[in-house]
Amino acid sequence: MTGALTIRRPDDWHLHLRDGAALATTVAHSAARFGRAIVMPNLRPPVTTTAQALDYKARILAAVPPGLAFEPLMTLYLTDNLPVAEIARAKAAGIVACKLYPAGATTNSDAGVTDLRKVEPVLEAMQRAGLRLLVHGEVTDPAVDIFDREAVFIERQMIPLRQRFPELKIVFEHITTREAAQYVAGSDAHTAATITAHHLLYNRNALFTGGLRPHYYCLPVLKREAHRQALVHAATGGSPKFFLGTDSAPHPAQLKEHASGCAGCYTAHAAIEMYAEAFDAAGALDKLEGFASLHGPAFYGLAPNAGSITLRREPWTAPGHFAFGDAELKPLRAGETLPWRIAE
Ligand code: DOR
Ligand code: ZN
Repeated sequence: MTGALTIRRPDDWHLHLRDGAALATTVAHSAARFGRAIVMPNLRPPVTTTAQALDYKARILAAVPPGLAFEPLMTLYLTDNLPVAEIARAKAAGIVACKLYPAGATTNSDAGVTDLRKVEPVLEAMQRAGLRLLVHGEVTDPAVDIFDREAVFIERQMIPLRQRFPELKIVFEHITTREAAQYVAGSDAHTAATITAHHLLYNRNALFTGGLRPHYYCLPVLKREAHRQALVHAATGGSPKFFLGTDSAPHPAQLKEHASGCAGCYTAHAAIEMYAEAFDAAGALDKLEGFASLHGPAFYGLAPNAGSITLRREPWTAPGHFAFGDAELKPLRAGETLPWRIAE
């Protein structure tokens, strides 16, 4: 049994840091593990201009603890009205991607895109500029069962989008189904996917074990065991089309433990540790470095990080909560024993 594993410093290709006082907690956790992260723009109000993204980046950098190096890679939030001219400004400022939230699909997505036809000129400009499109792949049609919304999105939105913009680099974010894993595996090199640690570790039973478990609620929601296995197969198969994106998404504990609880699992406090656990369970620790540290940079046209991290098989107890501004943040696995830890 491997007791320790040293890999190139990983990156997180899908992360929610939030803003303000929350950054002290979220940035410290991510920067202790990851060299870079793609920062999601679904703040209130959303990050829709290059100027807002650069201000937000400065606030994130100001929260990086001394002695750690962490590069936030910034994104813009696509709306029906994003001016085409913003794409050139974004490109010039080093913004790497735009995020497509179908309006109403998830947390802070009200300002998202109501009809893909409305953003075609922007997608064309992105394709020309080489900006990545990051897709929350769920239909919002209330007539579609929540467990089917990702699979239906592939048929109704992703396939037509791919045909309309064949050169656009698209990341199918936080995939949760066998259908999405198979779609991405079978597509050309312009399509990739991120996979979260929680979707590799849990199926939908986790939401209901011994009672309703709001801290396991995220969107896209956890699926059946067969889907979890398909995701593990994709993540551990060595394909460069699949890479690490935690979708760590903090909310105040009182809004998770609520009659209408918020979607989002906070995993940044132990993210690479949980991926190690999932890869270990699949007998695929040797595939972790590619997934966590190499495939993502390759898709984004960046070099891998220079440094490394070491993970040890050594049980530790995750904290029960963290400060989150004036509120409390309860992470996934709060107070539980985790089998892998990161060496200081
Ligand atoms: O569970 C989720 N939480 N899914 C998302 O798409 C958004 C995220 C958030 O921002 O809380
Ligand atoms: Zn997300």
